[in-house]
Amino acid sequence: PDSLQAAAARTGLTYGAEVPDYRLDLPAYRRAVARECGMLVCGTAMKMVVVLAKPGLEDFGPGDATMRFARANGQRMRGHTLVWHDALPDWVQPLLARSSPAQAEAFLRRWIGAAAGHWRGQIESWDVVNEVLAIGEVRRPDGLRETPWLAALGPGYIDLAFHILHEVDPAAAGTWNEDAVEQDVPWMEARRTLVLRRLEGMLARGVPIRRFGLQSHLTSTLPIDQERLRRFLAEIGGLGLAIEITELDFDDRAFPADIAARDRGVTDMARRYLDVVCAEKAVLNVMTWDIYDPDTWLNDHPNRKRPDGLPQRALPLDADFARKPLWHTFHKAF
Ligand code: XIL
Repeated sequence: PDSLQAAAARTGLTYGAEVPDYRLDLPAYRRAVARECGMLVCGTAMKMVVVLAKPGLEDFGPGDATMRFARANGQRMRGHTLVWHDALPDWVQPLLARSSPAQAEAFLRRWIGAAAGHWRGQIESWDVVNEVLAIGEVRRPDGLRETPWLAALGPGYIDLAFHILHEVDPAAAGTWNEDAVEQDVPWMEARRTLVLRRLEGMLARGVPIRRFGLQSHLTSTLPIDQERLRRFLAEIGGLGLAIEITELDFDDRAFPADIAARDRGVTDMARRYLDVVCAEKAVLNVMTWDIYDPDTWLNDHPNRKRPDGLPQRALPLDADFARKPLWHTFHKAF
């Protein structure tokens, strides 16, 4: 049967998508995801904000539901995400703020033990850390974002989290997932350099990191330089790390309202991006952030939604689960 996962598999890649757990109640959605995807990731269900919503209570229900669906359809799972500045439950931020480093480490160990322990052996790769580099004003020479984790534990929190995951679930590939490293602007080029230096440091220190994830929320307002991107991916691969494209989508803000024009703009971007990505041997998985347009998070994001308020044409399937030009671009690129 023809599908994105079948096309990807022919070149040794896996195509998959983020799924919000509540969508799995919709039969047409279930069918589309079962047909197109070889791998799934939860949009929020495995984040701390869901699992540890209430102190002293762990809620694995939504994540388990997605896991069961993936199992039933022979799909693999990614885990997203263990350490992030966002999606912290309300009660965790003050707890971290008043913790000694030893207490904060104990909390981190309990949390990773709970989440990665619960799904031990069932997650191919865990986003151990997500978005650790600063965006906008960079105040530290190491480029790290100032987060509750950094404040509580110092810059060693990143290495520490990888070591803890490795103790809890050694079969899961420890992944650093990062955003805004894909496109051709000087500040992203600077972030690419920070990534490479930090990866080299982590490997030299013996940190059990196995993959780097490029979120790939691509924006139509910025260019893509294929040569720079190719070099970046090759350098990561050269370090012996695998690469995942973890959250691919296309904001169409820069294109006019006309649907055909937007689809042309988005498919041009996709072709430029996927040509490079699919040619790099280190790349294993290409995941989009959801699979059909009505679900894209871009429409809710203050800086990413369209000024004219139109819903974005960001994903491979339309509101009726029909295959868009973007689906065909993916299919051809794989
Ligand atoms: C987003 C989800 O899609 C939303 O539903 C949620 O409200 C906020 O988080 N980068 C990430 C993802 O790593 O976790 C984010 O997901 C999108 C940006």
